[in-house]
This record gives sequence, structure tokens and C-alpha cells, in this order.
Amino acid sequence: MSVNEPTTRLVILISGRGSNMRSIIEAINHQQLDARVAAVISNRPDAAGLEYASSQSIPTKIIDHKAFADRESFDRALAQQIDEFNPDYVILAGFMRILTAEFVEHYQNKLINIHPSLLPKFKGLDTHQRAIDAGEKEHGASVHFVTAELDDGPVIMQAKVQVMPDDSAQTLAARVLEQEHQLYPAAIQKLVNVKQD
Ligand code: GRF
Repeated sequence: MSVNEPTTRLVILISGRGSNMRSIIEAINHQQLDARVAAVISNRPDAAGLEYASSQSIPTKIIDHKAFADRESFDRALAQQIDEFNPDYVILAGFMRILTAEFVEHYQNKLINIHPSLLPKFKGLDTHQRAIDAGEKEHGASVHFVTAELDDGPVIMQAKVQVMPDDSAQTLAARVLEQEHQLYPAAIQKLVNVKQD
């Protein structure tokens, strides 16, 4: 291994389009993030993001949750697969599964998520519509450590956008997503910097 090769290993978990995963891979390719993606794992065989990961010669794996009798056995199989890649951080990027406490504990301080709201506001789903309905002037996204409580772990970094009077959930989501694509690589780089200190 060359001295300059990044040593922080990421495993990224996706369920769908994987635009955040893509922004992380692009940041690495543009030397804006000093890490490497050891693997991308999806719980859905048809996740669109898998194709992009493969096109970048990143190993991809599918662990289909429908093939498991319960959440516990799926999470155990997922953890076993993740651990084969020996990651420093497990990056949830639109991974649409609730994880068991056992899984979360196994990756304590290593499991990272991006959530489309300014946590602790608007945990859970439909965050953009809920922000509009609540009359928020500001909205955004948060990268945080995952703990057993849903969308509740310590925040690593946030990005803010203004809510415009004529925003729909769709226009607001698009503006937040643009910020997410800057935020996620930057937040991971922050973790890499701390680890290297
Ligand atoms: C993003 O809005 C992210 O904040 C949320 O799920 C969405 C995933 O989008 N957790 P993508 O698959 O990364 O494009």
C-alpha cells in the first residue's frame, strides 16, 4: 500500500437511488474526502445506486431483507457481511430499514446517518412537508451518529436552507438534497480528521 493511500474504510448502505452515496464517491475521486469505499450494500436488489457503485469498481452486495424471517436475522446477516469489509465507518445513505439495538450497539460510534431535517426537529418521515406545515423559516439536513433511538444520535454536522413562501415538499426536498450532497462528504472528512489527530 502506498503511503498516500487513504486508510479510512467506509461501507455504504443504500436502499434506492443512492445520490448521497454517489456524492461521497465523487468527493473521494476529487480528493475532497480522504477515505475509500470498501463496499456498497443494498437491502433491495433493484436499488439504482448499485449500478453507479459497480461502474466505479466498488464491490457491491445485496442482502435482501425479504429473504429473512425477522429483523434480528436480517441484521445479523447484514452485520456479518459488513464486517467482512472491516470498515471504520458504516454510512447509511438512504437505507430504509429500522435497525435492531443489537446492530446499532455493534457499530457504536461507527454508524452514521444523514437525515433530511435540522435535528432534533422532524425525526422520522415526511420531514419537508412537516417543516412547511410548521411554518419553519429554516430547514436542512443533519449527519449524525446512530443510536438505538430513531434519528436521535449526536449531530456531527448540519446544513441549512431557507424555506421559501411558495415551496412545496418537492422543491424544498430538492434544495435540501443539494446541500446533503455537500454535507455528507464534509461530515465524514470531519470524522477522518478527528481520527487522525
Ligand atoms: C435523503 O434525503 C436522505 O437524507 C434520506 O434518504 C434520502 C436518500 O436519498 N435519509 P439518496 O438515496 O441518497 O438519493
